[in-house]
Amino acid sequence: SNLTLATTVITAKNTLDVETGNLLKNHFIVIDDGKITAIIKDQSRLPANANIIDLGDKYLLPGLMDMHTHVVQHLEKDYYAGLFQSPHRALIGGVVNAEKTLMAGFTTIRNVGASNYQDVALRNAINAGEIKGPRMAVSGPSIGITGGHCDNNALNHSFKQKSDGVADGPWSVREKVRLNVKYGVDLIKFCATGGVFSKGTKVGQRQYTFEEMKAIVDEAHTHGRTVAAHAHGTEGIKFAIKAGVDSIEHASFLDKETIALAKKHGTYLSMDIYNTEYTLAEGEKNGVPEENINKEREVGTIQRESFSNAVKANAKMVLGSDAGIYPHGDNANQFSRMVKFGMTPLQAIQAATIESAKLLKWQENLGSISAGKYADIIAVEQNPLENISTLENVSFVMKNGEVFKQ
Ligand code: ARG
Repeated sequence: SNLTLATTVITAKNTLDVETGNLLKNHFIVIDDGKITAIIKDQSRLPANANIIDLGDKYLLPGLMDMHTHVVQHLEKDYYAGLFQSPHRALIGGVVNAEKTLMAGFTTIRNVGASNYQDVALRNAINAGEIKGPRMAVSGPSIGITGGHCDNNALNHSFKQKSDGVADGPWSVREKVRLNVKYGVDLIKFCATGGVFSKGTKVGQRQYTFEEMKAIVDEAHTHGRTVAAHAHGTEGIKFAIKAGVDSIEHASFLDKETIALAKKHGTYLSMDIYNTEYTLAEGEKNGVPEENINKEREVGTIQRESFSNAVKANAKMVLGSDAGIYPHGDNANQFSRMVKFGMTPLQAIQAATIESAKLLKWQENLGSISAGKYADIIAVEQNPLENISTLENVSFVMKNGEVFKQ
């Protein structure tokens, strides 16, 4: 009595096995009910009446994954426009941004920080098939100290403005975690240090105490949620790793000891090394305040050195781009920078597929073209192992067995 959709088969000259780096020649990917059921070589073994999508000379890869996005956020020319934008208006922008992200080949994203649970609503509408967008793992409001990077410090005290996730002290932060869980988040995001795009915070400075970080992580893990910590400065990164977070976002000031600590704890590094170029080229035109452009100058070069050192040390890494700082849909621009600063093309692709799936704890279902996983498949014109920039032009996108771009 269940409605079964016809079997779909995708084939192309090359299919990338992201775990080994092997290119499978002229294989057939069999898809039923949104899942990959088999990958076969012998055409005579294809199910009868299958709907065959032949992508010819193209290269097939698993759908790309970006572990640090802000799709619910307008990219306004005027930097302060966001202050005058209702959460409803911002969410409509999020609908548009989600579609751009999917069309760029990113079939799964983490959205790390949104007020009013806009991200939960967006994820649910996408999952219900009402709008087009990637699979989303969402954090709801980021948790942060009063006056910190995850607070909003733009207006004077008489406006009594504070961001949804602001909490101080171990019990208050536990309450914020519980609230976020209550309203449907997949993960917890908190700010361990200052940041580039906040007013009056120092990038190098730790914000939460160790006690507070431990409380956030303990409460989140108790509820089966992973934790992403925004951290630029070394002390904040170390405290967050020791507190047991699952990923460090930005991870700008890494020394040898900190990289070793991340490896010891199995902590993923999610380093947004593309957007420096965008901010330094376009920030002033877009009205980004001088304070923030100066902080970007402080962070950019050192973050890229840290990235190279982390790659050399074989630390666990994912692709996290901080989309929203640069225009949504340009997420793949980060790949060539990951290669420029030390990864092989295969490592960069693994960071955005199988490694991201592991960070999300969704590796049973996502991250590679394998039997049993969801049919999230993209195609590009050239061999990405030879020309990583080909990922900036994705010509075919399938998510959950459904074709969104061809
Ligand atoms: N959201 C981050 C912050 O404001 C972005 C940092 C961007 N710059 C960089 N070099 N990663 O701190």
